[in-house]
Amino acid sequence: MEKLRVMSVFGTRPEAIKMAPLVLELKKYPEIESICCVTAQHRQMLDAVMEVFHLQADWDLDIMTPRQTLSTITCKCLTGMDSALDALKPDLVLVHGDTSTTFAGALSAFYHQIPVGHVEAGLRTYDRYSPFPEEMNRKMVGAIASMHFCPTENNRDNLARENITEGVYVTGNTVIDALKTTVRKGYRFAAETLNKLDYEKKKVILVTCHRRENYGEPMKNIMLALRQIAETHEEVELVYPVHLSPVVRDAVNDYLADAPRVHLIDPLPADEMHNLMARCAFVMTDSGGLQEEAPALGKPVLVLRRETERPEAVAAGTVKLAGVVREEIVALAEELLNDPAAYAAMARAVNPYGDGAACYRIAQAILWQFGRINLRPEDYRGA
Ligand code: UD1
Ligand code: UDP
Repeated sequence: MEKLRVMSVFGTRPEAIKMAPLVLELKKYPEIESICCVTAQHRQMLDAVMEVFHLQADWDLDIMTPRQTLSTITCKCLTGMDSALDALKPDLVLVHGDTSTTFAGALSAFYHQIPVGHVEAGLRTYDRYSPFPEEMNRKMVGAIASMHFCPTENNRDNLARENITEGVYVTGNTVIDALKTTVRKGYRFAAETLNKLDYEKKKVILVTCHRRENYGEPMKNIMLALRQIAETHEEVELVYPVHLSPVVRDAVNDYLADAPRVHLIDPLPADEMHNLMARCAFVMTDSGGLQEEAPALGKPVLVLRRETERPEAVAAGTVKLAGVVREEIVALAEELLNDPAAYAAMARAVNPYGDGAACYRIAQAILWQFGRINLRPEDYRGA
């Protein structure tokens, strides 16, 4: 029987971190040829992930331009994908999550009448403008895909509400698979600033912020809140690896450049980032991935957004929605800094997003769907 050619398509940092363990898992099966096509929607941040996981792209669309618009990303991906699909002729295209690469990758596969598998399917806020454009991207990919790999049962239920019930698997999130390979005891950072921080005596707060719907006033409020926290708490060391987006870098420079106890650093390689997360006191972020990783490492998270499509860790008590109002963000951070009981209540390791075997389940689901094995993989039922 011919090998099943499975092409993973990704382009941004988080997609790469979450698809890397899957690309590697699929390589283990003699029935599968695992290939990957990168759009390079993120150039440097993608390359950094490829290096950490020792991955090489079979096809590289190299689309990134500074301050790119949603339309240019989508158009360039669509055009580039035509050549990639014509040349590589996969039997299945896998896309991840909700970026512009995800949407264009799925749409292009549909135009070529190639089935699509959606990894990290079924996340919803039910607000089409928040997160923007991600909520609409994932809904549109949900409509295109014929295989849906949901991290949680809640995600599966969201799809059922849209009458998507065929080809739906609950697998856990592949990010937990990735974390299991990167976090190590006694890890030494390549960045000396991170080795020198006193993680016992100081309260190291790990910060990231990049979402499009936070551009402008919300991002300004977030930056001013961070500044206030650092200025008024001598015990705090705020470590902020700043996203390469010029919009984000402008906001950071405007409001945080000269703040005391604030370490503004370049984006970290994934292994450095995961190990820093494992050592910090808590996390403040608008990132999706960090909301999944930090709870698995027992780190409280304050989400710098008005909503989240990841309610599982909020229900488990390790994540709180802090919003985008300065005083409210500061108040929640101060609660974690000043009240040991409040901190302890949030600092419990929980694993609503997976057990580290998501990639195995996805591989099994693909083999089952294509008639190569007789047993459907069991759904992940949560921690
Ligand atoms: C994108 C995704 C978002 C995801 C985020 C993860 C879309 C619409 N947005 O947002 O869902 O959460 O990635 O980080 O798909 N840049 C560089 N080098 C890089 C990466 C980015 O210089 O390696 C700069 C470029 O100027 C680029 C800009 O950042 O134009 C913005 O990148 P873009 O992918 O458009 O948006 P993100 O905000 O990163
Ligand atoms: N990350 C990283 N280096 C950094 C910041 C984040 O490796 O400097 C990782 C993080 O641990 C997570 C992923 O990137 O795995 C999240 O990406 P991002 O926040 O850019 O996107 P989102 O998850 O919000 O889509």
